[in-house]
Amino acid sequence: MTRKKIVAGNWKLNTSLVEGKELMSQLKNRIDIPGVKSIVIPPFTHLESAVNIFKDSGIEIGAQDCSKFENGAYTGEISANLLSEMGISYVIIGHSERRAYFGEEEPLLVEKIIMALKHRLTPIYCVGETLDQREDDLHFDVVKSQIENGLFSFSEEELKNCVIAYEPVWAIGTGKTASPEQAQEIHAYIRSVIADKYGDLAADITILYGGSVNDTNANALFSQPDIDGGLVGGASLKADAFEVIIRALASL
Ligand code: PGA
Repeated sequence: MTRKKIVAGNWKLNTSLVEGKELMSQLKNRIDIPGVKSIVIPPFTHLESAVNIFKDSGIEIGAQDCSKFENGAYTGEISANLLSEMGISYVIIGHSERRAYFGEEEPLLVEKIIMALKHRLTPIYCVGETLDQREDDLHFDVVKSQIENGLFSFSEEELKNCVIAYEPVWAIGTGKTASPEQAQEIHAYIRSVIADKYGDLAADITILYGGSVNDTNANALFSQPDIDGGLVGGASLKADAFEVIIRALASL
């Protein structure tokens, strides 16, 4: 089994550069923990500092998005090749905030994943249902179609290099976490959807849970058999809490 244990901290649009450097300096000595891949995903403007601060550590750096283009007249875009050139190794694709606020849908997300893989970035592809969809009992269908439309055009070799994050939209930044059982149910389902198309490969895919992961619920979530780690927003902005979350995964 080649599943990795990963905790990724998605800072979103938070911290000034000064604050961000301070937080990264605190994290440097605390989250380089054997057995877990710790990833820090700050705003684009902080990436160069991240590369310098984490250079002699095992901590990896991610970006929150990348362009579907490599270069050219695309004002405001940041390409996967530019990120890769800097030493960035992960990129979030299709976070629910990008889907909701920037209209990103699967055909675009597929193009972004193609670019990420081409430039040796590991995409962290996000899926998850809204509250309405869960209340209407549509969560399995929604997640299935996000997985199929986002990932099923890729080969086995390509899919092996992708990480999936299940993030129920109703749990993001709301303090409402999916219960460990609710999260496990969907994680196992995602693995079964992948198994239907790719067979044994499904057992090797890393699937992270995201949505109000914190230092008190991390252990119970990560103890579930199909949860391989977390994509953490708010709690990744506090060095103490983020360290506890990573240690919870390392201890399992
Ligand atoms: P949250 O965010 O931990 O603040 O809920 C998670 C995410 O959006 O990745």
